[in-house]
Amino acid sequence: VRGVAATFTLPIAIERGASLPIHRQIYEWFQSAIAEGRLRPGGLVPSSRGLASELGVSRIPVVNAYEQLRAEGYFETLVGVGTRVAKFIPIQSVTVGKAPQPGVISGSASKSTGRQISRRAAVWNKSPMQPWVNGRSTFRVSLPALDHFPIDIWSKLIAVQSKAISRSMLAYGDAMGYGPLREAIADYVRAVRGVRCEASQILVTTGSQQGLQIALQVLLNPGDRVCVEDPGYPGARQAFAMADAEIIPIKVDTEGIVVSELLRKGGLAKLVYVTPSHQYPMGMTMSAARRMQLLNWAARNGTWIIEDDYDSEYRYDSRPIASLQGLDSNARVLYMGTFSNVMFPALRLGYLVLPPNLIAACRGAKNCMDIFCPTLNQAVLEQFIHEGHFARHLRRMRMLYIERRKALVSALQSNLGSSVEISGAEAGMHLVILLRPGVDDLTVSTDAAHKGVAVMPLSSCRISLGERGGLILGYGGVSVQSIHDGVRKLRDCLERTEGQTIRQGLRCE
Ligand SMILES: Cc1ncc(COP(=O)(O)O)c(C=O)c1O
Repeated sequence: VRGVAATFTLPIAIERGASLPIHRQIYEWFQSAIAEGRLRPGGLVPSSRGLASELGVSRIPVVNAYEQLRAEGYFETLVGVGTRVAKFIPIQSVTVGKAPQPGVISGSASKSTGRQISRRAAVWNKSPMQPWVNGRSTFRVSLPALDHFPIDIWSKLIAVQSKAISRSMLAYGDAMGYGPLREAIADYVRAVRGVRCEASQILVTTGSQQGLQIALQVLLNPGDRVCVEDPGYPGARQAFAMADAEIIPIKVDTEGIVVSELLRKGGLAKLVYVTPSHQYPMGMTMSAARRMQLLNWAARNGTWIIEDDYDSEYRYDSRPIASLQGLDSNARVLYMGTFSNVMFPALRLGYLVLPPNLIAACRGAKNCMDIFCPTLNQAVLEQFIHEGHFARHLRRMRMLYIERRKALVSALQSNLGSSVEISGAEAGMHLVILLRPGVDDLTVSTDAAHKGVAVMPLSSCRISLGERGGLILGYGGVSVQSIHDGVRKLRDCLERTEGQTIRQGLRCE
């Protein structure tokens, strides 16, 4: 039910005793606010009674000003609605002010030599739009099955929690998170992921991305070295760039990050970021031997490890593999989890499991960033977990993703030939197809995005250049029917790009 519209308090400054009468001051304020676009056509204005009381003047000058504005076509009055700025303003002189365009700095700053904004903001200004990140397009990576989320249960719990909310829950909360949710998360990661922790080590974040930001604030100084998997998760790379870290790419193979390369290149590294359960994006699982090598190296080298356990919940052909954190006896691992993929991304809740000696500093960093996560959302999530809905939802999603993965693999094989090279389909919500050498994945992805198919180019996850291209296809949020349609469209895009590549090759010979 929508309430009666209320208007905001307008910043009209009345100068008593000025030569300009009060009704004229009010008139001129509205006229310039409309001309400059601060008040937009169709926007409600306060009632004359309300404005008079806000301004502390009698109603007469306000009524006079409103009449004048109405007579000149600036205002219109609708029965039952009130007075609003006219939808169509019949004057040529109105220059509706434009909001600055994204990425454009107005005024003297636009003439500047780059001193006005930071180096990293200048990079963001120049980063191209990525059309494959579009909303809910087919194969959008990192999108769970939103159509199967139990929205009825979730909305019931929101209602229950909102009704029962105590006054103290409306106040500022603990930067570490809502106590009962931290307990629930600790129970969950201990039981399901073999994480060794107490609830006191859990820091609730607004998703993994914030978990990274907090960890980096605490662990890194500008210029510190960070080792990352290559190819790897671009979101993490962006966070490291934002922390002014020096990024060192480390190869991955079928067993995960290549530790021998870490030994060679990562000597001075302060931090290494890994996705051991399901390497992002290639999908392999880090072998037990590599895990031990990595932990031993980190302990010897004094390097922190961030374990991003993004989609470990969904393993299809084998038993889940326990976390790296659970094997760590030197408290070097920060374990990072999220509810974005197992619930829905807009929830914006995730968590860090911290080594005990980092708790105080990370609490301080979180407090500095946004003080704490919204308590109501945390309480609803806690109840969702506590009542068993979370476990049931995970179980259902696992079955659904098995079906969607099967449909995708068979659609790919029947449309692209059974020799299509697929990587990383054993777990998670996406897989990778490798393209023929020389075929540009960016061209295919851009073409596909314009046809509503959001495949992410593998090259966007790579640091090293000139490697073989590929496409990352998310299947979590796509129905079986859309999988078939999407793969057919993708085949057409691939044929077009491959044809061009062959023609270009012939021309060069
Ligand atoms: C490997 C990996 N880590 C973290 C995230 C981000 O998760 P969140 O939504 O919690 O910030 C994603 C999202 O795609 C991801 O793929």
